[in-house]
Amino acid sequence: MSITDRAVPTENLRDAMNRGSNDAGCTVTRAATLPVPVAGRTPPDHVKNPMSEYTPAEDRYRRMPYRRTGCSGLDLPAFSFGLWQKFGPEHPYETRREIVLRAFDLGITHFDNADRYGPPARAAQRFFGDLLARDLRPYRDELILSTKAGNAIGPSPHRKGGSRKSLLASLDQSLGDLGTDYVDIFYSHRADPDTPLEETVGALVTAVQQGKALYAGISNYPPDRTHDAATLLRQAGVPLLVHQPRYSIFDRSVEQNGLLKLAAEDGFGLVVYSPLAQGLLTDKYLVDIPVNARATTSAFRSPEVIDDTYRRRAAALNKIAEARGQSLAQLALQWVLRLPVVTSALIGASTVAQLDHNVRALDFPSLTKVELALINEHGLHGTGLRL
Ligand SMILES: NC(=O)c1ccc[n+]([C@@H]2O[C@H](COP(=O)([O-])OP(=O)(O)OC[C@H]3O[C@@H](n4cnc5c(N)ncnc54)[C@H](OP(=O)(O)O)[C@@H]3O)[C@@H](O)[C@H]2O)c1
Repeated sequence: MSITDRAVPTENLRDAMNRGSNDAGCTVTRAATLPVPVAGRTPPDHVKNPMSEYTPAEDRYRRMPYRRTGCSGLDLPAFSFGLWQKFGPEHPYETRREIVLRAFDLGITHFDNADRYGPPARAAQRFFGDLLARDLRPYRDELILSTKAGNAIGPSPHRKGGSRKSLLASLDQSLGDLGTDYVDIFYSHRADPDTPLEETVGALVTAVQQGKALYAGISNYPPDRTHDAATLLRQAGVPLLVHQPRYSIFDRSVEQNGLLKLAAEDGFGLVVYSPLAQGLLTDKYLVDIPVNARATTSAFRSPEVIDDTYRRRAAALNKIAEARGQSLAQLALQWVLRLPVVTSALIGASTVAQLDHNVRALDFPSLTKVELALINEHGLHGTGLRL
């Protein structure tokens, strides 16, 4: 098969998503009613901070398509932005600020955080809280803020795992970090086999009932645990909004383990993280490992995975992208968004240029069947997955 065999598509991804392929294929009828929050929220302050020079781009909502999250009523942007890495104090404040504000200008309304992000832990949330107070407070109603809890923070036995204590104490801390009295989505960051699922789910339900979170989410849960959590949440009247798994051309776990299918059956959305495999699905490692790239700066991305096998596969994928007139990063992002069940691709960026470049993936025609088959030849599951 050749890349020149492809039919010539006429419509770009943005228009295709706007035209109506944004329905997640929800098959669940939701009978549950959401509980009335017992703790009222103070309304956000709509008064602009006189010290802020920031005014969001007026056309931001025309730049970004939005997709329905599972069977909920919530639409999320095709791209969400996460503050996992390089959002701590060792990176210039102005760079971090420019990236987040640019994301909002591009129509990215969903910002993903966790108690652990920075580094160090909590730093990314404190930064975002500062930005909220400084620039974004008037737009709080237009933002979808998420946080997560359950991964270990420090040595305390109470600041890890899926216990009620761990999750709810972390959420209170996160609200303090962010300087907001609610988050939109509160996630259990990972399944905890040592804690009863009822307890973990109960903590998510409490967070929603207290008005500290609008929706409940889970992340990194295997399908069986996901289905059980979705069932318990539905019974409690707090339907599972979203699952956050890892998904990219190089990580096909959710295709293989059935999570994609389960999302449609159980009616939750998928916000997929690391769609660029932390940078492996860009052209940055094709020849060398650049200074300051994540492979040299992060404990979560070892340079050892950038071997000959990786380079051969990435170079072949890069060729497919070039034949489409786009970059490998743009191809990889279009690839995860090809599935309606993927509500949003959760990306990171360490510069505004990366962010701009990546969001331009929306300008290209959807991938053809021939191109998808070619991608499958080179985009083998497991490439670069060693830490
Ligand atoms: N739930 C979970 O357990 C979990 C786990 C991981 C992530 N997440 C979420 O997902 C978000 C995104 O994850 P991720 O940052 O791994 O996503 P990603 O989009 O796969 O990787 C982003 C990184 O790739 C590099 N990059 C991006 N665009 C580039 C371009 N055009 N050219 C060259 N390099 C480029 C940058 O790293 P450098 O420039 O630094 O090399 C950037 O920070 C996180 O912030 C977090 O919110 C969740």
